[in-house]
Amino acid sequence: MTHSTTTTTAATDPAAATPMLSVRDLEVRYGGLPVVHGVDLEVHAGEILGLIGESGSGKSTVGRAMLGLLPAGGRVSRGRIHVGTPDGPTDLVSASTRERRGQLGRTLGLIPQGANASLNPVMTCLQHFRVVLRNRGIRDRAQIRERATSSLLRAGIHDPERVLELYAHEMSGGMAQRVVVGLAIVTNPSVLIADEPTSALDVTVQRKLLDNLTRMVHEEGTACLLISHDLGLMAHYCQRLLVLYHGVVVESGPAAEVLHRPVHPFTARLVASVPGARSRAAHAYRAPGAGADQVCPNQAWCAQPDHATCGERRLPLREVGSRHHARTSPQEDR
Ligand SMILES: Nc1ncnc2c1ncn2[C@@H]1O[C@H](COP(=O)(O)OP(=O)(O)O)[C@@H](O)[C@H]1O
Ligand SMILES: [Mg+2]
Repeated sequence: MTHSTTTTTAATDPAAATPMLSVRDLEVRYGGLPVVHGVDLEVHAGEILGLIGESGSGKSTVGRAMLGLLPAGGRVSRGRIHVGTPDGPTDLVSASTRERRGQLGRTLGLIPQGANASLNPVMTCLQHFRVVLRNRGIRDRAQIRERATSSLLRAGIHDPERVLELYAHEMSGGMAQRVVVGLAIVTNPSVLIADEPTSALDVTVQRKLLDNLTRMVHEEGTACLLISHDLGLMAHYCQRLLVLYHGVVVESGPAAEVLHRPVHPFTARLVASVPGARSRAAHAYRAPGAGADQVCPNQAWCAQPDHATCGERRLPLREVGSRHHARTSPQEDR
């Protein structure tokens, strides 16, 4: 972890303002089974909050729940999701599907995971932009072309005029991914959920795209929830991180703090799994009793490596540093 955290610009003191996106006690179930347990999060204008966690920990589910875009069988079973809209804060949980869809592309933007699959194979790139912009009442052809072109440039496509005429099958995976990013940002959403937006791209293109995304977030005051398992990128682009484990937030705080001084054993393990990770993370996880292969089913809540000492406790998130929280019991403090 050699990258420094990007300095906050537009969000000089995010804590002081009303968050653009505020989630309280979010529970999501698939077919009746809870997979996200009481997640709280806040994202302010001009801020990038990073959501990290291993595969299957519920990152995409949290992101999609926000937009009412859960797959069939998935539903928000508890909690509230407030977004700042031009008409004031709206609760997306109690909103009708129609109201929620209305916010999509106006207030809310999603860069879905596996972006390539979200392009319609019988539509050109330009036609995709037309649909998105028409939903916002923009019908003028020249204006649509102009906005699409500038959005593709921001997404890192050098020759947008050519790409606008292409179908998905004529694009490489990386190009399709950039097109989907362009579609998500063309409406300048005030809340943007970016789910692994750069996973199909090579490192240079990743950086460029995230640099552009960061500029947009700062210039437009977007609140961005960035989901990625690439901790190097997250350290560089996010102000704060939230660590999800089995659908439970086990740690949150300033990105540099969380990655260099992880407190919850799972965060430590995640950081230690990054090749070349320094920090005390690796030691933290190999602390006495913390055998990496002993997995307690209640581990997310109790932070105990061994179920024998767990006692099914549900530890609250405790303050372990400045704006840094983790599920630990007092004796596990640093
Ligand atoms: N459509 C679905 N139906 C049932 N279970 C699902 C569905 N999608 C995801 N899950 C389950 O929900 C959990 C979280 O998945 P997901 O949000 O995709 O995790 P992540 O994005 O962190 O990899 C996993 O256990 C996964 O198996
Ligand atoms: Mg995912």
